Amino acid sequence: MVEYKINDDIKPGELDCFFQGWKSPPSLKLKEKLLNGSDLIVTAREDGKLVAFLTAISDGAMHAFISLLEVLETHQSKGIGSHLMTHAVDYFKGYYDIVLITDPDEALFYKKHGFQEIYGMHIRDFKYEIE
Ligand SMILES: CC(C)(COP(=O)(O)OP(=O)(O)OC[C@H]1O[C@@H](n2cnc3c(N)ncnc32)[C@H](O)[C@@H]1OP(=O)(O)O)[C@@H](O)C(=O)NCCC(=O)NCCS
Repeated sequence: MVEYKINDDIKPGELDCFFQGWKSPPSLKLKEKLLNGSDLIVTAREDGKLVAFLTAISDGAMHAFISLLEVLETHQSKGIGSHLMTHAVDYFKGYYDIVLITDPDEALFYKKHGFQEIYGMHIRDFKYEIE
């Protein structure tokens, strides 16, 4: 049975099996930093094993940004990502904006959760961890 938890304690090493296919996946040190810096973490665990997680940052009043949503390949298409997203949208209910960035391939998933396409801009640095 999959158990969901808000602001669960994730050990950085538990994220090692995620970020599949990323051009520049985060190091262990960065995983620790992003977990510590997140304002919301929602987890899905099966028999204690982390099978999916969502992280978000927020100003605590108007804006929230869903930074990561990852479901293990073995556990995709079982409604787990939807559960995590529903928890996050509920958590930030009443906020002016809940924002996320996604690949076009996943857009339909987010549209099912009420997200709409907007015009946006960003700076992305694939060498972000190289010091
Ligand atoms: C995208 C992702 C978060 C979806 O989570 P999931 O647990 O597999 O999705 P669910 O089982 O909750 O699916 C819910 C609905 O969305 C649809 N859906 C799931 N993944 C989809 C995708 N990639 N594209 C379009 N629709 C998708 C499902 O068909 C389902 O539709 P239904 O309710 O009509 O049956 C997950 O597949 C994932 O982690 N993918 C790899 C990492 C990733 O792409 N993260 C997002 C970075 S932008």
